[in-house]
Amino acid sequence: MKRIRVRCPAKLNLFLEILGRRPDGYHELSTVMAPIGIYDTLTVREAKTFALDVEGPPLPGQNTVEKAYRAVARRRKIPGVRAQLVKGIPAGSGMGGGSSDAAGMIEALDTLFDLGLDRHEVAAEIGSDVNFFLERGPAHCTGRGEQVAPIPSGPPLHAVVYWPGFSLSTAAVYGRVREFLTRSPRIVIDFLNSFGREGPEGLGRVLFNRLELAAFALHPELAALRTRLSEFCPYGARMTGSGSALYGLCASGAEARRLAQRVRANLAGFVAAAGVVTREGAWRSRKSGSS
Ligand code: C5P
Repeated sequence: MKRIRVRCPAKLNLFLEILGRRPDGYHELSTVMAPIGIYDTLTVREAKTFALDVEGPPLPGQNTVEKAYRAVARRRKIPGVRAQLVKGIPAGSGMGGGSSDAAGMIEALDTLFDLGLDRHEVAAEIGSDVNFFLERGPAHCTGRGEQVAPIPSGPPLHAVVYWPGFSLSTAAVYGRVREFLTRSPRIVIDFLNSFGREGPEGLGRVLFNRLELAAFALHPELAALRTRLSEFCPYGARMTGSGSALYGLCASGAEARRLAQRVRANLAGFVAAAGVVTREGAWRSRKSGSS
């Protein structure tokens, strides 16, 4: 039986601005995302029917791995598969775990059964962030997030990532954001200029997430937690995506590990030091074979 294993990374939104509301109800985005070294691992093998085993806490909401399988099965005649998902990314944290798992499933099925899929076309059907995870590095994403333009490499970066243990609904956060939109949205160019040239200090000044105030309005303690986290992080702390995970940039892996230890000693929840992928790189190690 054929088998394949893919690593599905988390992401951080380093910049996120909302340009307006669309007729389809989604929001027009301008966001810069980068994969980080926190992973789910997905193993897929051929089987008679579809089955998924999840190692870790049960998945909240829709199961994107099955959604991806069904979307591929509507386009191509494929056998069943047995998928095993080992969760390393907290679900409902704004780190893109569900979207990354879906991208991993599309890639796994395409490779395993040699389907010649238009992967981006399948991805866009599953969620706004899935297309990003088909790329292998930092990207500027527009539209509802599904238009992905890779961006030039920046200097190496590291982060300490903190998830307080509660989840926010993406739809609820977007539903609240209207109150916090401005007439002149931030443009991404200053961020992109810094990303290409500067380390965490310069970049720390241009990190931005328009969804923060909406998330803080829904969950006031998250604002207090971001202030707490920024006390440990020399270049400030931000929220990723629609939350509730927060992060601070660090100058080195050693600094990130040191800060992670201090955060762990002071705040309850998930804490990790992680490398940020700042160039198109081979973050997804793929192992395939027969068993
Ligand atoms: O695309 P996805 O299913 O991840 O989006 C979840 C929810 O987030 C959507 O139903 C919508 O309410 C909101 N959203 C949005 N604008 C975007 C992306 C998501 O309003 N660009």
